[in-house]
Amino acid sequence: MAAWETVLFSLLLFLFSGLYLMGAFRRRRAKEPPLDKGFIPWLGYALDFKQDGLGVLQRMRKKHGDIFTLLIGGHFITFVLEPHSYGAIVKESKSKLDFDMFGSEFVSALFRFHPAGEDHKLIQASSVKYLMGDGLAVMNQAMVENLQTVMFHKMGSKDGNSSWQEDGVYHYSCNTIFKSSFLSFFGHESNDHAEKKAKLTDHEISQFEMLFEKFQKFDHLVPSLVYNTLAPGKRKEAQQLYHLFWDILSVNKIHKRYNVSNWVSEQERTLAEKGMPENIRTRFLFLLLWTVQTNTGPASFWVLVHLLKCPEAMEAARKEVNGLLKENGPQVKLGDPLMDLTRKMLTKSPVLESVIEETLRLKVQSILMRAVVKDMDLKMDNGRKYALRKGDRIALSPYVAMHIDPEVYPEPLTFQYDRFLNFDGSVKSFYKNGKKLKYHNMPFGMGPSKCPGRFLAVTEIKTFVFLMLAYFDIELVNGEEEIPPADKSQFGFGTILPVRDIQFRYRLRCQLGTK
Ligand code: HEM
Repeated sequence: MAAWETVLFSLLLFLFSGLYLMGAFRRRRAKEPPLDKGFIPWLGYALDFKQDGLGVLQRMRKKHGDIFTLLIGGHFITFVLEPHSYGAIVKESKSKLDFDMFGSEFVSALFRFHPAGEDHKLIQASSVKYLMGDGLAVMNQAMVENLQTVMFHKMGSKDGNSSWQEDGVYHYSCNTIFKSSFLSFFGHESNDHAEKKAKLTDHEISQFEMLFEKFQKFDHLVPSLVYNTLAPGKRKEAQQLYHLFWDILSVNKIHKRYNVSNWVSEQERTLAEKGMPENIRTRFLFLLLWTVQTNTGPASFWVLVHLLKCPEAMEAARKEVNGLLKENGPQVKLGDPLMDLTRKMLTKSPVLESVIEETLRLKVQSILMRAVVKDMDLKMDNGRKYALRKGDRIALSPYVAMHIDPEVYPEPLTFQYDRFLNFDGSVKSFYKNGKKLKYHNMPFGMGPSKCPGRFLAVTEIKTFVFLMLAYFDIELVNGEEEIPPADKSQFGFGTILPVRDIQFRYRLRCQLGTK
C-alpha cells in the first residue's frame, strides 16, 4: 500500500471510529423504545438538557410517549415516565440495573475520587445505624439544639431583639440550615458548647459565613461539573473551591473538632482502617458535607416562602404550632431560647407535615439513574416489553411522571398546603388511569438508593419552620412580590434553587403562643 493510501485509510478509520463512538450509526432495533439522537453528534441533547431538562422531557413525551431513549453527552439514556412501572424498575436485580456504576461516575465527576463499591456499602450501613432508629433520635436532638443555637445567636443576645430585621428568605433559610447541619454533623471547634449551650465562637461565626458563601457557589457549579461543561472562566473558581473545602475538611482538622457525629466519624475511621489515604478521605468528607447540605436548605426556603405567600396555609400552620406550644407547658418563653422541642411535638403536626410534603412534591426534581448492566427486557405495567441495551442508562423522573401530572394532582403547579393533610395520620391515595399509585410522591427517590437522610431532613425542615413560627413574626417586605421561579439548569439535581431571592422581615414575638 502506498504511503498516501495508508494515511487516507488511517484517517477514514479514525473518522469512522469517532462517528461510531459518537453514536452516529446507532439505529433503533426491534422492541427498543423510540430513539432520538438530536442533531449534534455525541452531544445529542446535552446542551438543551443542561439548559432546561424539564422542557426537553416534556417535549419528548409529547413526541414519543412515556418511554424513549435520548443521546445525551455520549450516553444513551432511556427515560421512563410511566409511574405504575416504577416499582418493578427500582426492584430489578443489581445484575441488570445497577445504581453503583452510575453513582461512582457521579462521585468521581463531582468529588474527584473513584469510590469503590465498598464505599457505597459503608455509607448505607452507617446511614441505617445513625440516620434511622435510635441513631436518628441522637441526630434529631443535636439538630434541634443547633438550630436554636444558630437562630438565637443571630438575634444578638439571649434577651432577644424585638425590632424588625431584614434578609432574603433564601439567604436566611439556607444560611441557618447550613450552619446547624454543619454543627450537627461536623461538630464544634471548641468544647465550650457542651457547657454553654447556644454559644458560637466569633471565629466559628466568621468561618461559617465564608463557608456558606463558598458552598453556595459550589452548589451552583454542580450541573456543569457533572455534565463536564464548565466554562473555562469557571475552572479556576471550581479549583479554588475544592481546595478550600479540602482544607476545611482535612482529616487532621476534623479530628480536632468536638461532637462530630458518629455518622461522619465512623465512616472516616473505617476508611482509614481500610487504608484509604488521608487526602482521599478528606474528599470523601466533602461528599458527605454536600449530601447533608445540598437539599435541605433550599427545601426549607421553599417551605417558608410558600407559607409567607399563602395566608391560609400560614394561619393553619401557626394555629398548629401555637396549639402544640400551649399543650406542652410553660417551659417555652422568651429569654429561654433553647426550647425542649420534643419528638412528640414534632410528630403531632399534620399541617406542617402536609406543607412540607406538598413543597417537596413541587420543588424536588431528582432524576433517578441506573446503569443497564446487560441486555434485558423491561416489562412495563401495561404488559408491554421493551429491549434495553447493555451500557445504556435508564432514568426515572418522579417529578414529570407523577408530581406534576394533572391526572394525579389536579392543578399540579399550585401549592395546596392541605393536599396531603389527613388528621387521622393515614396516607392519602392518588390515582393514574383509574389505578391507585403505589408511589405518588418521591422526593427522596425509591428502591435501594432511597435517601436514608429523609427522616432527619423532614425533622430539620419542620423544626426550622416550627421555631420560625413559634418565636418570630415574619412577613414579606413586598407582599405583592411573586415567588421567584426555579433555576431551570438545576433540573435533575434534587431540590431546585430559585433564580433570585425574595426579601422578608422578622422579629422576635413579645409573647409566645398567643397570636
Ligand atoms: C430535603 C432534603 C433531601 C432530599 C430531597 C434528598 C433526596 C435524595 C435523593 C432523591 C436521593 C437518592 C438518589 C438516587 O436514588 O439516585 C438521596 C440519597 C441520599 N441522601 Fe438524601 N435528600 C435530602 C436530605 C438528606 C440529608 C439531610 C441527608 C443526611 C445525611 C441525606 C443523605 C443521603 C444519602 C447518604 C444518600 C445516598 C443513598 C445511597 O446512595 O444509597 N439526604 N437523597
